Amino acid sequence: MDTMSSSTPLTALQVMQDAPVIPVIVLNDVAHAVPMARALLAGGIRMLEVTLRTPQALACIEAIARELPAAVVGAGTVRSKADAQAAANAGARFAVSPGYTSAVGQACRDAGLALLPGVATGGEIMAASEEGFTELKFFPAVQAGGVAMLKAWGGPFFDVKFCPTGGITLQNAPDFLALPNVVCVGGSWLVPANTAEEGDWGRVTRLASETANLRHLKL
Ligand code: 3PG
Repeated sequence: MDTMSSSTPLTALQVMQDAPVIPVIVLNDVAHAVPMARALLAGGIRMLEVTLRTPQALACIEAIARELPAAVVGAGTVRSKADAQAAANAGARFAVSPGYTSAVGQACRDAGLALLPGVATGGEIMAASEEGFTELKFFPAVQAGGVAMLKAWGGPFFDVKFCPTGGITLQNAPDFLALPNVVCVGGSWLVPANTAEEGDWGRVTRLASETANLRHLKL
């Protein structure tokens, strides 16, 4: 817990090791940001990926960073140097990208953001790892080959660790987490689309709490 102090830059491995699941959060209203983060914290999850997919996303990151020091907020859907800089300025501590480019890698380094770059092929893994990124998001995981793909990558890419994201559920997460090259998974199932609008924060806390049972798989 204490190693997450906001003055110390995080490593990608710290981001991945904190909990079995990184929630992929889409927020349409800045008023939902802090209650959503509180609900996830109450369910035992503090590493929070807020995706840059809505006009409010940066303000949401800023609100969580400012008001909830117990949370560690990151930005998802980081696709450019400008996204990385804006995320860091808003208070994000880590970034997740749907693919990898050198520009995003360098921008995250410059901004002090840990980065989980997205990959879906061997060539992309080689490009990212050549530039020093060996903790990667496998995206879209289920659609691009799932558990079988990760098993195949375990041979040539024996030193690379993955956070599969895309199509992961509470039901299939154990199959992924049981693999030696998977540290955690990512998913939006903890934060269903309508819960924020309905203010059903108890549901988010329940869904987050359920993932604690997955933890033993990686201990
Ligand atoms: C993402 O947006 O990073 C993933 O698409 C999340 O995928 P999911 O909605 O299938 O969990």
